Amino acid sequence: MKNTINGLKVYTCGNENNQPIIFVHGFPYDHTMWDRQIDFFNDNYFCITYDIRGLGASEVGDGQYTMEQYVDDLFVIISEMKLQKPILCGLSMGGYLSYRAVERDQNVFKSVIFCDTKAQSDADEVKLVRANKIKQINEEGIGAFVEDFVPICFSDGFKSNHVEKYSSVKSLCKTNNPIGVKGALIAMISRGDSTPFLNKITIPTLHLCGEFDTMTPPEKMKIDAKNISDSQFKVVPNSGHMTPIENPDFVNNSISEFIK
Ligand code: MLT
Repeated sequence: MKNTINGLKVYTCGNENNQPIIFVHGFPYDHTMWDRQIDFFNDNYFCITYDIRGLGASEVGDGQYTMEQYVDDLFVIISEMKLQKPILCGLSMGGYLSYRAVERDQNVFKSVIFCDTKAQSDADEVKLVRANKIKQINEEGIGAFVEDFVPICFSDGFKSNHVEKYSSVKSLCKTNNPIGVKGALIAMISRGDSTPFLNKITIPTLHLCGEFDTMTPPEKMKIDAKNISDSQFKVVPNSGHMTPIENPDFVNNSISEFIK
């Protein structure tokens, strides 16, 4: 089912009396990156996913976003839908958003799954890379940006063994409004650092990271997990940064074991 809440396209699947799980996508993707998880979990859980402001089918507006506004959006969805203690699951940018949401009010959530993400804010060199990405979108268009950025997200094995899926993901990314994509880059550049809050997280967390993830490598993600008292860390085999798409069976089974 599809709803609009606060200008955001929200998609639900499953019985709303079941335990809710909210899936928050990465950049520059949309809610469909969680398709294999929704298929797997909707029999026993109430699955909610949405397009982050400016991406997918959600409202773009002026493109002036902050991570705080993304978190406000998440909290509006939770309160409008009257979700009780949802499980939160975020990948990469969706994970940055999840770390900040937990920092703002962890009691809202039953537990959190962090996929291929980090608590740390952008280092100066990353900010410069993102500034160049904005320039590239302005000068060469969204297509050129996607052709440069998306290949880094997927492992070589996935790109050569799943040519059709990989190409459909890229095509989908190219349909994003450039204003929304540039707005997301600015929201990431300007976000705060959630690292000092890690040792104050008391709810259970699961951290999943692709074996070949070069954007948020396993060694670094493991350190974030170690700083949280009730955490589990798992490396997702045969996968780059996009674990829910690249190795959905491993991701689904790991989440399933964790939330049981
Ligand atoms: C993502 O997958 O959300 C992006 O890789 C995040 C980022 O660029 O830091």
